Amino acid sequence: MSEIIIAIDGYSSCGKSTLARALAAELTYVYIDSGAMYRAVTLFLEHGIRMDHKPSVDAALEQIHIDFQYGQEGLVTLLNGENVEEGIRSMAVAAKVSPVATIPEVRRALVRQQQALGRGKQIVMDGRDIGTVVFPHAELKIFLTASLEERVRRRSLQLLRKGLSVPDEEIRKNLLERDYIDSTRSDSPLMKAPDAVVLDNTNLTEEEQLLVTVILALTRKRRSIV
Ligand code: DC
Repeated sequence: MSEIIIAIDGYSSCGKSTLARALAAELTYVYIDSGAMYRAVTLFLEHGIRMDHKPSVDAALEQIHIDFQYGQEGLVTLLNGENVEEGIRSMAVAAKVSPVATIPEVRRALVRQQQALGRGKQIVMDGRDIGTVVFPHAELKIFLTASLEERVRRRSLQLLRKGLSVPDEEIRKNLLERDYIDSTRSDSPLMKAPDAVVLDNTNLTEEEQLLVTVILALTRKRRSIV
């Protein structure tokens, strides 16, 4: 069977990373969270860098090195060698990451790194432009959806697990703002690739296994075709 690339795209908090992680574990593929890369750049740029000044952004991008490491807590994002997992998941970064992800220089730098990570295939990557821009020739593309209320509920639980109690209204506002910016920006907006399979993930907890089973069946099919 040949090795493939699996691209998972969709709005924030649809369950992309849970699904991508489960698939990667089943297939012993590498999982890459491309959103974590945009979050790491946001964290770095927060240190007084003018985002509307192209030379400053370019210079900052030169100093950023992002890596992933598999630790006891699972996948950990490293920014210049430092574990930034906590910082990149904060509400402060969540509030700024979508505007940062509209900056073409940022996108170009990260897309280049993401494509390099996929060179050997055997990768599951989730994000917003994976099936359209990063890997337009991915053998399997999934576009994941879930209801807004379910997405708010999931995000709230994630934050609570980290000891952060954020009102649902604030979470809903942040998700809607990010949806809007991510899908209307001029550089590689979030959209379904024409050849992506659309899967609704609203009932993830009950149907997670079913969804993984369906995608594994699709994967087997694609792997024997290519
Ligand atoms: O998946 P996430 O919520 O961690 O992503 C954070 C932000 O990064 C999201 O608002 C949009 C942006 N993003 C992007 O523009 N392209 C990607 N491939 C992944 C994330």
